[in-house]
Amino acid sequence: MIGWLNHIAIAVPDLAAATAKYRDLLGAMVSEPQALPEHGVTVVFVDTGNSKVELLEPLGADSPIARFLDNNPEGGMHHICFEVADIHAAARRLVSAGARILGDGLPKIGAHGRPVLFLHPKDFNGTLIELEEVTEA
Ligand code: CO
Repeated sequence: MIGWLNHIAIAVPDLAAATAKYRDLLGAMVSEPQALPEHGVTVVFVDTGNSKVELLEPLGADSPIARFLDNNPEGGMHHICFEVADIHAAARRLVSAGARILGDGLPKIGAHGRPVLFLHPKDFNGTLIELEEVTEA
């Protein structure tokens, strides 16, 4: 059901410092920072050619990654995102198998303007998994 690894998201306390590490130490292609107020994050995309790393810095008072950074002050891997061709079909299959979707269980429009949902980390070995609908997946 899942297709390509779309991205790995890393929460960071200092986006400029994290971006500089990827650009200058690791020699990676990095984007300009993008503020996404509706998602409570500012993001920089690291292009690895076959996939992406997203560096996420909290934006605003109720950022969804604020508590994660409270528990992991130096940052850390926050979630991984796989592409699916049909997110509603994926959701039905997962729920019928007993997996839990975070929130109200319905796909939301994610940071790339496409429908996404998040699966409960306790159902997937302690890893928060995002599914993103990519119609060409
Ligand atoms: Co993501």
